Amino acid sequence: MGAKGTFKIQIFLSCILLFGTMATKSLEIGYYRCTNTCPQAEEIVKGIVYKYVLQNPGLGAGLIRMFFHDCFVRGCDASILLDKSSHNPNPEKLAVPNNHSLRGFEVIDEAKSAVEHVCPGVVSCADIIAFAARDATYFLGKISYEIPSGRLDGRISIADEVKALPSPFHNLTVVKALFAAQGLSADDVVILSGAHSIGRSHCSSFRRRLYPVIDPTMDQKFGYFLRTKCPENAPVDGVVLQDFVTPSKLDTRYYRNVAELKGLFFSDWSLLTSSETVNLVHDFRTTPQHFETKFAESMVKMGNILMLPGTKGEIRKSCRAVNY
Ligand code: HEM
Repeated sequence: MGAKGTFKIQIFLSCILLFGTMATKSLEIGYYRCTNTCPQAEEIVKGIVYKYVLQNPGLGAGLIRMFFHDCFVRGCDASILLDKSSHNPNPEKLAVPNNHSLRGFEVIDEAKSAVEHVCPGVVSCADIIAFAARDATYFLGKISYEIPSGRLDGRISIADEVKALPSPFHNLTVVKALFAAQGLSADDVVILSGAHSIGRSHCSSFRRRLYPVIDPTMDQKFGYFLRTKCPENAPVDGVVLQDFVTPSKLDTRYYRNVAELKGLFFSDWSLLTSSETVNLVHDFRTTPQHFETKFAESMVKMGNILMLPGTKGEIRKSCRAVNY
């Protein structure tokens, strides 16, 4: 038998194993392939994510952040995607941390239409976000992993619940507590914060560290540089890159920035305030190879945050609205 035949048998066996554990696990790697409900789903999403991220790497950063913001509020249920409606008059996407800040919604819309075209009513928007974040991670960081799927979409989205997310002004104790509430550890805080090596930030997320005096926890020269990008009374909220050296590469530069007091947020600096986190910052800074596997593992872990118990899920027809 040729190598191709062996490969097919391996896939077949892995699917049998997955079915065997279905009763105990709610998410499975290759769910749409193994259930034969939409074998092409992951490839279709990948093609669309690549198309957009190639044009604008910032959208890849947006998709990774979208996954985080989705999973921390009511679990990974695509509640972040719901538009304002009579059903959800004040949805998550309108809350301060998301409004005019979160990006990549158009990528998810196009991926959903493409998947619906081939296999209508089968693939959840929550899984599409998880696939898109995984694909963006590969595209920007060459970090590859498989993400279990089979999630359902929620029907509820409430702006006020976004307080489950950490703020850039929180100290380590608060950030750790918010992660712990989701079943994530202090290590996960350090590992996932590594995503701040890509993308952008609005000045409003750190301006109070610049005026009236530059925060002593920030490198002073860096602070003066940021002041040029974010003037005190600027009429519009400007944006700066999170990492000025390799802004579109998901790498370990973030840890170097943090160690040199050149992280944008107080929460970034706070990783240096406990031995529980500072050691990992230095480990990733000096041994970048350690970061890749850990980042992949923590993304999968974050993707396992489930919908609230007793919540009813569905496969939405449009990612922006619940089914009626
Ligand atoms: C540890 C607590 C965290 C805090 C306080 C935090 C806060 C923030 C803030 C304030 C911004 C800038 C938003 C803006 O001004 O537009 C940002 C950007 C970003 N965050 Fe975080 N974040 C945290 C953890 C994470 C995690 C866990 C991830 C994903 C694994 C992540 C991924 C990103 C990415 C990729 C961006 C850039 C987004 C873009 O360019 O559109 N962050 N974060």
